[in-house]
Amino acid sequence: MPTQTILVTGGAGYIGSHTVLQLLLGGYHVVAVDNFDNSSETAILRVKELAGEFAKNFSFSMLDLRDKCALDKIFSTTRFDAVIHFAGLKAVGESVEKPLLYFDNNLIGTIILFEVMAAHGCKNLVFSSSATVYGWPKEVPCTEEFPLSAANPYGRTKLMIEEICRDVHSADSDWKIILLRYFNPVGAHPSGYIGEDPRGIPNNLMPFVQQVAVGRRPALTVYGNDYKTSDGTGVRDYIHVVDLADGHIAALRKLQDPKIGCEVYNLGTGKGTSVLEMVKAFEQASGKKIPLAMAGRRPGDAAIVYASTDKAERELNWKAKYGIGEMCRDQWNWASKNPYGYSGSKDSSN
Ligand code: NAD
Ligand code: WQD
Repeated sequence: MPTQTILVTGGAGYIGSHTVLQLLLGGYHVVAVDNFDNSSETAILRVKELAGEFAKNFSFSMLDLRDKCALDKIFSTTRFDAVIHFAGLKAVGESVEKPLLYFDNNLIGTIILFEVMAAHGCKNLVFSSSATVYGWPKEVPCTEEFPLSAANPYGRTKLMIEEICRDVHSADSDWKIILLRYFNPVGAHPSGYIGEDPRGIPNNLMPFVQQVAVGRRPALTVYGNDYKTSDGTGVRDYIHVVDLADGHIAALRKLQDPKIGCEVYNLGTGKGTSVLEMVKAFEQASGKKIPLAMAGRRPGDAAIVYASTDKAERELNWKAKYGIGEMCRDQWNWASKNPYGYSGSKDSSN
């Protein structure tokens, strides 16, 4: 197969940077774009270093997806075989406070991307959706056929973009679109050189645990220990970010299938892990004690969410390889080497 050239939006972000690296190592040519709203240029520099000789197949442009002229220029200079679309805002709480920001950034950014892609005849897309579209699932594992709902404006942007994708494909069957519903991405590249570096107070479990381990926060607040789960704490499907990145390469391969239209796949491990089990695994991997503060349930949280992985295994020929031990090992390797993230400085992180 001839070398493919892929545009990655949000390529400096957590999942984007790991995916760009896996693409380069897999022989793809990659152009990444990002506005650094929630990321750092250092991530791009480190991806280039990790890619070694493959870095010659990589270029980066700083732009906001809503800047149609800038995006158009990128498409005018390069012919893309497909786009992987990560760029978006993702903080649930912030989306409740600033819904218009989320609708503007996530929806308008995606619509402009669609318009520019269509204008340049590139109609192959992989989109970052989320398990959040299952809302509060009545049962587990979540299959792709489950009813969809959104619990907050962030989730609504994912649901709306999924609907936009289905409508775009119904209107023009030249479009081939794969919607990937990620469960809970954690961990970091095994080199410890790239990883997740959230701005401000982390919203998600593992970035918070990691900041407690390096002494940036005194204790982890456990949101709820009265769920109907083995130890009372919430259960999720944590997936290693490198497995997730590889899932995108499987999706790109699937886009070659002439029968593909607009198709959706869960990317998870199919295994549920509680908050306390995850903390224990991290303590084992890091040798650090994580002090806990028990608190009430976080509003909006579901008790148990994990994926059915059958469809992705069957149709994408992809399966997660890593377990929570490896996720925690790599998360700790990244955290211990970069306790203050990419900035490296206590003063520029909070
Ligand atoms: P991230 O914030 O690290 O990466 C997103 C990147 O997009 C950032 O680098 C940000 O600067 C960039 N960006 C945002 N708006 C942009 C715009 N208008 N123009 C250009 N760049 C823009 O987040 P992530 O964890 O890597 O998530 C990537 C995608 O996966 C997001 O769409 C997110 O909603 C989705 N997702 C993430 C998770 C998760 O838990 N991390 C779970 C499910 C789905
Ligand atoms: C996991 C578990 C918490 C933090 C969120 C988004 C979802 C998706 C993934 C993007 C829960 C508990 C957490 C803490 C805790 N993102 N927890 N103390 O809620 O499954 O999903 O990220 O699409 O849309 O909602 O992930 O990591 O926030 O929480 O006890 O400080 O950890 O209650 O049981 P969640 P999470």
